[in-house]
Amino acid sequence: MSNLAYESETRESVADADLAAMKDLRPVPRISIQAFCETESVAIPIERAAEDRRMTKAHLKVHMGGVATAIEFYQSAPTPNLIIIESRQEPKQLLDSLRQLAEVCDPNTKVVIIGHYNDVWLYRELIRSGVSEYVVAPISMADIVSVITAIFVDPEAEPVGRSIAFVGAKGGVGSSTIAHNVGWAMSTLFGSEVVVADLDLAFGTANINFDQDPTQGMAEAVFAPERIDEVYLDRLLAQCAEHLSLLAAPSTLDRVYDFDADAFEQVIDIAQRTAPLVVLDVPHIWTGWSKSVLSHADEVVITATPELANLRNSKNLVDMLKKLRPNDPPPRLIVNQAGMPKRPEISVTDFAEPLGIEPVAVVPFDPQFFGNAANNGRMLGEMDAQHAIVQTINELAHVLTGRIEVKAKKKGGLGAMLEKLKRK
Ligand SMILES: Nc1ncnc2c1ncn2[C@@H]1O[C@H](COP(=O)(O)OP(=O)(O)OP(=O)(O)O)[C@@H](O)[C@H]1O
Ligand SMILES: [Mg+2]
Repeated sequence: MSNLAYESETRESVADADLAAMKDLRPVPRISIQAFCETESVAIPIERAAEDRRMTKAHLKVHMGGVATAIEFYQSAPTPNLIIIESRQEPKQLLDSLRQLAEVCDPNTKVVIIGHYNDVWLYRELIRSGVSEYVVAPISMADIVSVITAIFVDPEAEPVGRSIAFVGAKGGVGSSTIAHNVGWAMSTLFGSEVVVADLDLAFGTANINFDQDPTQGMAEAVFAPERIDEVYLDRLLAQCAEHLSLLAAPSTLDRVYDFDADAFEQVIDIAQRTAPLVVLDVPHIWTGWSKSVLSHADEVVITATPELANLRNSKNLVDMLKKLRPNDPPPRLIVNQAGMPKRPEISVTDFAEPLGIEPVAVVPFDPQFFGNAANNGRMLGEMDAQHAIVQTINELAHVLTGRIEVKAKKKGGLGAMLEKLKRK
């Protein structure tokens, strides 16, 4: 419990203490933070924290109104990575309110409470129920930055980001297009920072699809992994949308791309430390490194078209991934380009049956819609937000971030909190 009482100190010495406390803190990743404050004395240091250089990548918004406002707000709004709640409620009342908040929040959202009761019982109850930190007011700007850093930057802490690897069961099935569009949907729907990493160095299309000049992004990262840290990675990212940045492939053939099995490990790890969502566009090949990337991703999405070779390859991929990831759910399956005129197809049911997995989406063949988007360097959602295929992409964004099907709950999040509070 942090209780840094500064009342007796002068303003200058507070500033000095702040500076000293913040000297060694590392930058906070691209996370979204929303604070709900009841008093100005808490809101002001939080707003000041938002302007600190260590917080420039994070998106922080301060609302006035405490936990009741938060509960109402999240009835309709998506939850951020971190919610900070100031509450003057008594301990028992506060626990009750947090139970209600947990009902409307995402299970892996972290929560920090700023309270007005210096109460050890309350502190223990909150930590036990999954709250990340309880801080007693008054607070300083440094307290806020330190608390956020402790949760999201600590090298011992789990990387903040989830990695989702997209791979095609065959070449040209639309795996990259779906990866880019789902990444874009996640960034716009949830205001969550997304890094799209194009691992197809020779032929990658992310730069075309996002209308970016080809850059060396991914090549620099993968040819000099020892240089990669958060600051260097930042320089390699191309900003494509408000919350989406791209680690682009060079898409040139002047070198060859024979990598060791662990070549992408470092860059993916750092990307996951800087953004909550990392979309990996993995080419349709089977090499040491592609196998390693697929084995280590938090989630794997196989895109296939409804034909025999795709079915055979999907079956091999699903079986291999089950073996490589025995403690994870099976990969997700997307059936793409369904209903192509005149093409004999395997029905979705017959396709899914031997794989033992239901597709999370079936995307129809629509060469005009896809072709126009690709030729204009725009996402499908930018072309026509109401299009049925865009709705499917949006659903995929929800499913793959655990917003529709709530999956294994992360330790310390609101999901854990809800469970524990229920058990009481
Ligand atoms: N549902 C669809 N209907 C029509 N065209 C589509 C559909 N999905 C993708 N496409 C088009 O198919 C082509 C191949 O897509 P994309 O490059 O994404 O496939 P890929 O699986 O990543 O291929 P590669 O093996 O080259 O990596 C693109 O021109 C894309 O616009
Ligand atoms: Mg591709």
